[in-house]
Parts: sequence; structure tokens; C-alpha cells
Amino acid sequence: MLRYVTIKIDGAFIRAPRGTSVLDTAIEYGICIPHLCHVSGLTEIGACRLCIVEHEVAGRARVTTSCTLSVQEGMVVWTNTDKIKRLRRNIAELLVAQAPNSRAIQDVALRCGVREVRYPFRNQDCVLCGRCVRACAEIWQARAIGFVGRGKERRVDYPFGRRPDFCKQCNYCVQLCPMTITPCEGPMKNGEERLCGNCESQLMAAEENPDGCIWCQLGEGFQCGRYV
Ligand code: SF4
Ligand code: SF4
Ligand code: FES
Repeated sequence: MLRYVTIKIDGAFIRAPRGTSVLDTAIEYGICIPHLCHVSGLTEIGACRLCIVEHEVAGRARVTTSCTLSVQEGMVVWTNTDKIKRLRRNIAELLVAQAPNSRAIQDVALRCGVREVRYPFRNQDCVLCGRCVRACAEIWQARAIGFVGRGKERRVDYPFGRRPDFCKQCNYCVQLCPMTITPCEGPMKNGEERLCGNCESQLMAAEENPDGCIWCQLGEGFQCGRYV
């Protein structure tokens, strides 16, 4: 039997099934908490840290990733405090610097209010979000790919670097990868901080309605919840 708890997110009382994450609860209620590594229904690994929120523990505010935080009766959560906005903007900036060639990452950065990036661009082709690895293991039960290496060498690969026979060739890993969405021409190129019209309007929408959906490619492409 489903048991429900009542929590408060940004002042709104919300009933949610016990065991649900704060992120899923917020999305279901129509509050967009920026996120990247989260895929509904898959195990959460808290890799991107974009979904941080503040919640009250013993009278003190604590910063936690909302995808790994389960709802509890009486929990109080804030998704958009000044502290959270500052931390999240910095995380998003670092993500753009890591992989500026992803529309999904540009979008999530706009949602976080990023107008320019202060870090050197590294043009990596993977941000280690683990979406592909978890989808392969948990949806297809294939485990045909996984993380290998440590530190700067960490990457996603096949066992021994070769596609195994048990890969189902479903292509789901590619579909879920935020790096496969073509970036727009405008923003966040090295030495060129101009935002294109589309990005400007997304940024304005995010600033006017910090909890709202800006129809980012992550939502449209990856079905983050109700916004498809
Ligand atoms: S194509 Fe292969 S590696 Fe990719 S999700 Fe499917 S089974 Fe896994
Ligand atoms: S290959 Fe894509 S989906 Fe997989 S961990 Fe890297 S960025 Fe994420
Ligand atoms: S969505 Fe929560 S840490 Fe990435």
C-alpha cells in the first residue's frame, strides 16, 4: 500500500508517496529543479550535482542533491535560495566548460542563469553523467558498457574496449546521452559570450519564472517528466 507524506517545497505543501525523491516530487508538481544525470526510473547516482536544494535538518539548512534525497514527513525544501542559485550557476558553468558542444548542457546552464563561462573550455565528449551506463544495465540488463579508469582517465567504455556480443545494439545509450544534442551557434563559445535570440528568451523565461520549465532539450529529448 502506498503511504504518503506531506512536504513543503518553496512554500507549497505537496503530498508525495513515501520513498519518492524530492526531485521527482518537484517535477511532478511542476517545479523544475535543474538536473542532468537524473533519468526517471533509473538508480540515482548524484553525479552532476545540478539538482542541489536546501532542506532543513534539526533547524539548520543543509545543501543536498534532490535526486538522492527521499521525501520525509514534514520536510521543508527550498530550490532557489541565493546560495543554491550561486552554487548551481557555478556547477553549470563548469559543465559548459567541460563540454560546450552539447545543447542539453547549454540549456541547463541557461536554466541556471549562466551568461558567460569563466573557466577554460575543455571540449570533452563525455561528462560522466552515467545515463548510458545505468540505462544499459537497468533497462536492458545488458551491462555492455561501464565506467573504466580513474580521475582524468575515467570514461565509459565496453569491456576490454570492444563491443561485446551481448550488446543488444538498441542504441539507447546514445539516445540518452546529453552529448548527442547539437549545440546552437550562439552562446558559450570560446571568446564569444553572445547569446543567440533563442538562448536569450530561454534565459529571460528562467529569470522570470525560476521554478518553471523552459522547454529545454533535456526535457524534450530525455522526457524528464511531464514536459514532453
Ligand atoms: S546499444 Fe548496447 S551498450 Fe548501448 S544501451 Fe543498448 S545494449 Fe547497452
Ligand atoms: S557517454 Fe554520454 S550518457 Fe554516457 S556518461 Fe558520458 S555524457 Fe553521460
Ligand atoms: S540530477 Fe541530481 S545530481 Fe544529477
